[in-house]
Amino acid sequence: MDRIPAALFGASGMVGQRFVASLQDHPQVDLVAVYSSERSKGKKLSEIWKLPDAVLNDDIASMKLEKLDIQDAVKQKAKIAFCALPADLAKKVEPDAASAGLAVFSNAAAYRMDDLTPILIPEINYDHIKIVELQRKKKGTRGFIVTNANCSVTGLSVALKPLVDKYEFPRVFVSTYQAISGAGYPGVPSLDINANCIPFIKNEEVKMNREAKKILGRFDGTSIRPIDIDIFANCVRIPSRDGHLEAVTIQFAGKAPNADEITETFARFEGKPQILKLPTAPKRPIIVRNEENRPQPILDALAGSSDRTKGMAVTVGRIRVDGDVLRFFCLVHNTIRGSAGGSVLNAECAIHEGMI
Ligand SMILES: NC(=O)c1ccc[n+]([C@@H]2O[C@H](COP(=O)([O-])OP(=O)(O)OC[C@H]3O[C@@H](n4cnc5c(N)ncnc54)[C@H](OP(=O)(O)O)[C@@H]3O)[C@@H](O)[C@H]2O)c1
Repeated sequence: MDRIPAALFGASGMVGQRFVASLQDHPQVDLVAVYSSERSKGKKLSEIWKLPDAVLNDDIASMKLEKLDIQDAVKQKAKIAFCALPADLAKKVEPDAASAGLAVFSNAAAYRMDDLTPILIPEINYDHIKIVELQRKKKGTRGFIVTNANCSVTGLSVALKPLVDKYEFPRVFVSTYQAISGAGYPGVPSLDINANCIPFIKNEEVKMNREAKKILGRFDGTSIRPIDIDIFANCVRIPSRDGHLEAVTIQFAGKAPNADEITETFARFEGKPQILKLPTAPKRPIIVRNEENRPQPILDALAGSSDRTKGMAVTVGRIRVDGDVLRFFCLVHNTIRGSAGGSVLNAECAIHEGMI
């Protein structure tokens, strides 16, 4: 199969650079154009590169950033637009790109709660991609928008999926310990975050509830019905670099299942991307750690089963049951599984479905 040409909007940002790292050796997608704002225009990717754990191939390192231009992306024959733009800009750019015929895979919050746009995490809700047909019909476009979730929501939703499939519970309580890279570049001022924690991340706690409900919801052929579980979140920015850690508490109606059963439920979980063996799907979407002090951002954020899937697995640990209460920690790489890697996996699903 010929690789499908793709453009990247917001290539110079924290998420944008993760896209470049994931796409540079991609077997199905060919990165043909990278865009940023006027500020970075004309710079080579090697000049703006800030990821210590990803090395650029020479041909990609010398690609030059252009000022964002949808028509130019179309001229470069792009069929896909990966989008890592701020939400206010994405609100205008993404529908314009879809109207221009591009398949848009977005990281921004702008269209996540749109009725005809999926928040796709394919291990959880592969079938939600079908709603794109309704989106195309209503908008009259060949192109379309698929979003992925907020980064903390991604980790939590992946961890909750095997539990909601097997057990019933009405409420989830979660406290997050979120890395600085989650705020983009340059993000939180160093004097605010160094040796400190900030117990406020704008809009994050609301997103945790409403996005998770949609992601875990059911697509009935015409709409996505949110799941009937409420998520109560406390979100905190901490001075780690990458990887959002989350402390989760669930109260069951009666006695909770025992810790061994919960451990096995997590460890056995797999979804359609694993069955299809999609290039960016980790062998196991959830990795369970049994050590008493894991998961940790430094040790576990890059969990995965191969170079391509590093950072795509969610790590779960410290599974404890006391009577009717289950507690555990989960950890997600915010700019890989929680953003760029998640979008690339979504594109692989759309390619598999023949949508591009
Ligand atoms: N960071 C995370 O963990 C994370 C996780 C999930 C979702 N997201 C979402 O992903 C998106 C990108 O986040 P980020 O963390 O990568 O942000 P970022 O580091 O601030 O990067 C923003 C990107 O957008 C470009 N941009 C800004 N204004 C522009 C304009 N007027 N015209 C064209 N390009 C413009 C920037 O280009 P310049 O470099 O030229 O300014 C840069 O490439 C956001 O919507 C964010 O909410 C982020």
